[in-house]
Amino acid sequence: MREQHDLELILGSHFPIVTIESHEEQRTIDLIKKVVANNGKSLHTWTTTEGLQYKRGAGQVSPFYVDGLSLQDRSAHENSTTDPVEMLRMIKKGIRDAVLILLDFHPYLDDPVIVRLLKEIALDQYVSENTIVLLSHRIEIPNEIKKLCASFELSLPDSNKLKQLVIDEAKLWSTKNKGLKAKTDRKTMDRFVQNLMGLTESDARRLIRNAIYDDGAITECDLPEVMAAKYELISQDGVLTFEYDTAALSDVGGFQSLKDWLNIRKAHFLKHATTVNLDVPKGILLVGIQGSGKSLAAKAVAGMWGVPLLRLDFGRLYNKYFGETEKNIRDSLKAAEVMAPCVLWMDEIEKGIATGDYDSGTSRRVLGTLLTWMAENKSSVFVVATANDIQSLPPELVRKGRFDELFFVDLPTYETRQEILSVHLRKRDLAPSSYDLVTIAQQCDGFSGAEIEQAVVAALYSAHAEKRTLESKDILEEVTNTKPLSVVMEENISGLRRWASGRTVAAN
Ligand SMILES: Nc1ncnc2c1ncn2[C@@H]1O[C@H](COP(=O)(O)OP(=O)(O)O)[C@@H](O)[C@H]1O
Ligand SMILES: [Mg+2]
Repeated sequence: MREQHDLELILGSHFPIVTIESHEEQRTIDLIKKVVANNGKSLHTWTTTEGLQYKRGAGQVSPFYVDGLSLQDRSAHENSTTDPVEMLRMIKKGIRDAVLILLDFHPYLDDPVIVRLLKEIALDQYVSENTIVLLSHRIEIPNEIKKLCASFELSLPDSNKLKQLVIDEAKLWSTKNKGLKAKTDRKTMDRFVQNLMGLTESDARRLIRNAIYDDGAITECDLPEVMAAKYELISQDGVLTFEYDTAALSDVGGFQSLKDWLNIRKAHFLKHATTVNLDVPKGILLVGIQGSGKSLAAKAVAGMWGVPLLRLDFGRLYNKYFGETEKNIRDSLKAAEVMAPCVLWMDEIEKGIATGDYDSGTSRRVLGTLLTWMAENKSSVFVVATANDIQSLPPELVRKGRFDELFFVDLPTYETRQEILSVHLRKRDLAPSSYDLVTIAQQCDGFSGAEIEQAVVAALYSAHAEKRTLESKDILEEVTNTKPLSVVMEENISGLRRWASGRTVAAN
């Protein structure tokens, strides 16, 4: 196996410390065991609860002596090796030609004595021939020993391996259920396997088991559950959120050219593995005034394509983990790749990467990371960014070629206003045909989608207060009493239109 071979190479190299970040502890230990069985070294593990333990077939005695006692005798007598400093001293003094796996050692890596001891052990490697393996879910290597460390990544199961795991689990279920066969069909199975891509073997196995064991079948219903569970597994921080509420296309009035654009690309985006001569759609930027339905449209992209919607929260990116911003954005982008195909929604992107530089360049670097990723990303992660304010958008972001298209969302036209009215009436179980949409739409010229919705909502309240059903006149009254934002912000809007002409295409 390639993975074992790679590990063999790294353990055989002259790096005295090998770091492995993984949640799959047992699988990693098993893999190291196989390598060690071939290279003739001895294997030890260390945990803070059990101390240093010699791993070989039962009954074998450790060939290493420390202070006149064999390692096993010594740990049996006083077990002092649960103390990390003691343990490292023991390795330094008496252990030779061994691979030592230190499990969950990461909390100790900020202790200067421990770091120094590790360094001394590492520098002594040409004599001792020891290799230390640090195995934790996450490891921050102190600078003092960085140059002495090599890192190893466990490979993730590919689709064939995942299929095999599903078959294994189905067989297991079958034997536990008197030979009953687990059910699925080819299409669902393929999508199920696709959803499991990017997960570790043990996580995938657990999700497969969950899916089969509830009803003895892998069905359509298991798919969204797998995506949600997968998201839980890969998101360690709160920067990326999984949005359960996407929107249907029927919730959105207008946006006709955007809808057409998305329609043309849907099949290609979803089947990107099979078609080769077209670039995978990367993303779009929606620019327009507040309340024009940009966020709604972003949600509708996920709904329309039937893929998960992930939201990148810039506010949290900057606030929650001060000083770790770039790592967080990299992690989030990586997580999004694992969730592919998916929509990555960056709402009000200008707030996240404004050009005003009061943050010692962090937002610049975040922008850089984002742009590089967008340029290099080959996975089916479709970015939908929205922006209200183009003044603060960095020019690099809107340069040709970054996004597939920049869409300008203008105030709704007369026809679109009718559509939006219909959407919101229908949403409240009212038949649009019972209303004078023509007159209302004429009267609400200059209204944004949000303001039209607001007029419907307020009119409903008035009607309810009088204990009667909603009538056109209620909506008209609300419309007449509303001064739309576009009047207050007339200058901003014309500025936005000027900017948009030539740079963007109309979303409507
Ligand atoms: N074109 C539209 N069709 C239907 N509803 C709309 C439309 N535009 C806005 N709305 C309504 O207004 C609400 C707020 O719009 P939103 O998407 O947040 O605007 P933006 O993100 O552009 O500020 C939406 O949730 C929706 O209910
Ligand atoms: Mg919005």
